[in-house]
Amino acid sequence: MAKITLRQLLDDAAERGYGVPAFNINNMEQGLAIMEAAAAVDAPVIMQASRGARGYAGDIMLSRMIDALTEMYPQIPLCLHQDHGNEEATCATAIQHGFTSVMMDGSLKADAMTVADYDYNVGITRSVATMAHWIGASVEGELGVLGSLEHGAGEKEDGHGAEGEIGHDQLLTDPDQAVDFVRATKVDALAIAMGTSHGAYKFTRKPDGEILAMRVVEEIHRRLPDTHLVMHGSSSVPQALQDMFNAFGGEMPQTWGVPVEEIARGIKHGVRKVNIDTDCRLAMTAVFRKVSTQARGEFDPRKFLKPAMDAMRELCRERFEQFGTAGNASRIKVIPLAEMAKRYRSGALDPEFKNMTAAA
Ligand code: G3H
Ligand code: 13P
Ligand code: ZN
Repeated sequence: MAKITLRQLLDDAAERGYGVPAFNINNMEQGLAIMEAAAAVDAPVIMQASRGARGYAGDIMLSRMIDALTEMYPQIPLCLHQDHGNEEATCATAIQHGFTSVMMDGSLKADAMTVADYDYNVGITRSVATMAHWIGASVEGELGVLGSLEHGAGEKEDGHGAEGEIGHDQLLTDPDQAVDFVRATKVDALAIAMGTSHGAYKFTRKPDGEILAMRVVEEIHRRLPDTHLVMHGSSSVPQALQDMFNAFGGEMPQTWGVPVEEIARGIKHGVRKVNIDTDCRLAMTAVFRKVSTQARGEFDPRKFLKPAMDAMRELCRERFEQFGTAGNASRIKVIPLAEMAKRYRSGALDPEFKNMTAAA
């Protein structure tokens, strides 16, 4: 099956009321685990590659790997998405390598550290949306800065993340500004900030409304009911995985992620794409620790990687079921990029504001 665009997939998700996990990938084992899970439950797939992943595997390896996965699983629509593009060139070269969707994260400057002002964000996101839409590819923008409401700081993942103290005005997306941003940039999906951050250390206690502001999601959805919302930093960091990691020599201090029931609440309020990387990393590395502790003489990497893939497959399958993604793949007929480009050109895919309601 041809690769699907994010826009087509999220339009389908919105029509039917489900969410789609966007799993980060860096290698073949993660790609296979996600596709095996998707095939088992008939779920469409979003795989996303960060700049770090592109550097790790290489663009040619990544894009050929995705081609191989689409050939192996022709019944599963697969969207290949650039995670946290930092500038126009990152997004353009992703599309050149077969990505059907890009995130232009203009909430930060190109160094992926300095918080950007609103006009910079609008300008760069609009320019990427114009370019991507000529080709038919989709664009996710971000308004607001990811980071903790507990301590007012971003969490760095491989150099990506806001530096220094960030105010609550930036850590929580402003619903009025969100309306203006979508209108000005014509993004297909909007990532918003509501207290989540990347990595394992999101919350020092089970999150409540003080530190995970799901009310912001609800308010933005009230203002922009036709816009697909994206939750970043949405790993749940399951206790069982933390325990397993620590039982075999790991040293992960107790931490809390985003509870699945909060994500389900988001999906009821316009969240269509849910970004998950940490949980997949933890599922695999907890198994690496277990194998290296229990089979100390083992030196065949497959004896580590195979059970690690099994663990990641189970995690992905659970999320496909919990988010309602399961059961939707075989129904979807992929619209080619050229046809998407035509639709953008005609204005048919311009953002809609017809069901908007005023602020509560
Ligand atoms: O954006 C955050 C993702 O977890 C990607 O992380 O840059 O280490 O690949 P990475
Ligand atoms: P986690 O670190 O919570 O998995 O978030 C990943 C993410 O948001 C990638 O963009
Ligand atoms: Zn992210």
